Amino acid sequence: MFRSSLAVLMLAASTAAAYPGGTPDYQTDVAPFCASCHASVDVSSLAGAPPDRATRELAANKHLAPLRSGAPNTPYATMAETDRSLLADLVEKLDRESTVEIAAPAKVAPGQEFDVTVTVKGGGGPVAGVGLVDADQRWYARSAPSAGWRVVAAPVIRGPGAKLQTKWLEKRPEALGRNLSYVNIEGISSDPANDSYPSAEVVFRLEAPAVGGKYPIAAVFYYGTELASPLGTKVDPKDPQQRKSPVGGFGGASGRVRFTPVESIEVGL
Ligand code: HEC
Repeated sequence: MFRSSLAVLMLAASTAAAYPGGTPDYQTDVAPFCASCHASVDVSSLAGAPPDRATRELAANKHLAPLRSGAPNTPYATMAETDRSLLADLVEKLDRESTVEIAAPAKVAPGQEFDVTVTVKGGGGPVAGVGLVDADQRWYARSAPSAGWRVVAAPVIRGPGAKLQTKWLEKRPEALGRNLSYVNIEGISSDPANDSYPSAEVVFRLEAPAVGGKYPIAAVFYYGTELASPLGTKVDPKDPQQRKSPVGGFGGASGRVRFTPVESIEVGL
């Protein structure tokens, strides 16, 4: 008896330290396939996957339908209908307002160093994930260096209020290089009930490939939706640290993966 409840507690402690809350411990390049629990905002980001699988990944089907209906065997089953419907409306509003944009030059010289700026708005918080990839596809995208874009410096992370953030990157030993194509932005705190959707940005310094041609680049934005609302937030009374988790649970579909369109950068003289 004692042993099994200890095991459950330990599992809760280790799982709550990741995903909802971003990736506090993974300072490395990340590809979007890892966010398998998350839902997609458009079917095009599953292009090439079997159509029924792609549709199942949409937020409307994977997250909002079970939330609105209080689907059996989900944590939503025990919520009052008015709460479910209010939370679903707030999540939809947050999704409409959450955006990611990429600013990159149209043409660069072979081997040239240049900046790519990714700007995100919204996202539930407390954390958002931002990365550079080679395709706007959840299962097939690779991190941007696979397409030939070498990240040459530690990304410059400016959280809400343009505040410089270094804490997350500094967890990675300096000797390994902090020139990552993926980062966490902390201090994200959108509030759909009060129409507040702060922005943040990440500047990646890249080196162009040595061989001329057209090369793809896109940005990916990982964010949560339920923790942005008190109705979507729960605290386990037994958790000594009183951490907040989404009502849909750790394995729920309240996370999102959203891409920018793919930009094609010409490398040439
Ligand atoms: C076991 C399911 C699961 C997996 C696998 C998963 N996530 Fe999530 N993630 C979630 C949930 C649930 C949320 C939503 C929290 C909310 O609704 O506010 C989330 C939210 C996030 C957030 C926003 C954090 C926050 O607190 O707002 C980031 C960033 C994120 N995930 C990145 C990732 C990345 C990167 C991977 C792959 C390494 C990943 N996730 C894999 C379940 C998962």
